[in-house]
Amino acid sequence: MVREWDPRTASSAEIASLLDTLNAVLAADLPQDPPWRETFLREYLAEVMPGERRISWIAHEEDSPDGSPGRLLGHVHVLLLGDIGVLEVMVHPGARRNGLGSRLVRLAAHRVYQEGFQSIGVEVVGDTPAVGFYSALGFVREYVETRGVLDLSTVDWSALSSVATGFDPGYRLEFHPGGPPDSLIETYARAKAEVRDVGDGDLELRPSSYDPQRLRDSLDCLHRRGMQPYIVLAIHEASGEVAGLTEVVVPAQHPTRADQYDTIVVGEHRGHGIDRAIKARMLLELRSAEPQLAEVQTWNAQANEAMLKVNAELGFRPDRDWCEYGVDVGELVHRLDALG
Ligand SMILES: CC(C)(COP(=O)(O)OP(=O)(O)OC[C@H]1O[C@@H](n2cnc3c(N)ncnc32)[C@H](O)[C@@H]1OP(=O)(O)O)[C@@H](O)C(=O)NCCC(=O)NCCS
Repeated sequence: MVREWDPRTASSAEIASLLDTLNAVLAADLPQDPPWRETFLREYLAEVMPGERRISWIAHEEDSPDGSPGRLLGHVHVLLLGDIGVLEVMVHPGARRNGLGSRLVRLAAHRVYQEGFQSIGVEVVGDTPAVGFYSALGFVREYVETRGVLDLSTVDWSALSSVATGFDPGYRLEFHPGGPPDSLIETYARAKAEVRDVGDGDLELRPSSYDPQRLRDSLDCLHRRGMQPYIVLAIHEASGEVAGLTEVVVPAQHPTRADQYDTIVVGEHRGHGIDRAIKARMLLELRSAEPQLAEVQTWNAQANEAMLKVNAELGFRPDRDWCEYGVDVGELVHRLDALG
């Protein structure tokens, strides 16, 4: 049975069943990743940025005669943002290769088409069944990043302390749990705009926020989804401007593994040891702010050699390819309809 599904009004049993399926998928496809918890899972699935919409469907077994709900076998959602629909689909490992994944994608693709969107993008993790699946559906790989994972038990904390202070005079570092203070939001947004025009082919499935109001909205959205942001800033003392920033989020759903988001050093402030220092300071701060944390994961374009080098020095180990695939919605609908 497949039906449209709204996580805001879903029963607790459905949320729990979705969690079971998600963890079965992780155990099968990414066995090194920590299992997810139910904390803030509903909010994670329901909350979106202003102007965005997420539409979801679930596939589940028939309810049993005693009325208890059937197990959730699959889930798909599409996030409509800008001019693209971003798709996520999962099928329980015990229910795969029966056409369910294709059926779920077909539902979502029809809706995206009806809504007038041109293309669908999806994140595909290397060395998982999703590669063969999306290729079979005609999706094309458009962008590749490498995920790196840092095991905090391997960190030399005293060496890291020297890195955290090893930047040139004229700057100071600030740690801001929760996000940048409002007094710095304008200069923070200007620093983030530095990476906007890189034009490296990224489909922007995880768009950053470049203007102050969008940045505030984005931080609010993170908090509502149960994702705690931490920021380390390098401030240029003479101008008071943000010269560099690094962002980490600790998700309530997997609080032992944090996500490293953007790290940016503004062009004119490069070459002063800021990138290493802000990342090192962040790890030191997280060690006391989030004592349960065991790992940090990050994603970098393979062309971004400077960042890959800093990450390697800090102890991040390359883990998997993390790809963005895209497809024209009309073509996808046509192909899936032809499959029947
Ligand atoms: C990708 C996924 C959705 C596929 O679901 P599914 O129900 O097995 O897909 P389908 O049965 O509709 O497969 C359709 C076609 O895709 C291709 N395909 C699917 N799985 C494949 C695999 N493991 N290897 C190669 N091709 C595959 C085949 O061509 C298949 O047709 P066939 O079975 O007639 O040969 C499922 O494996 C899944 O949930 N993966 C995890 C996705 C995810 O979100 N992961 C996040 C953490 S990694």
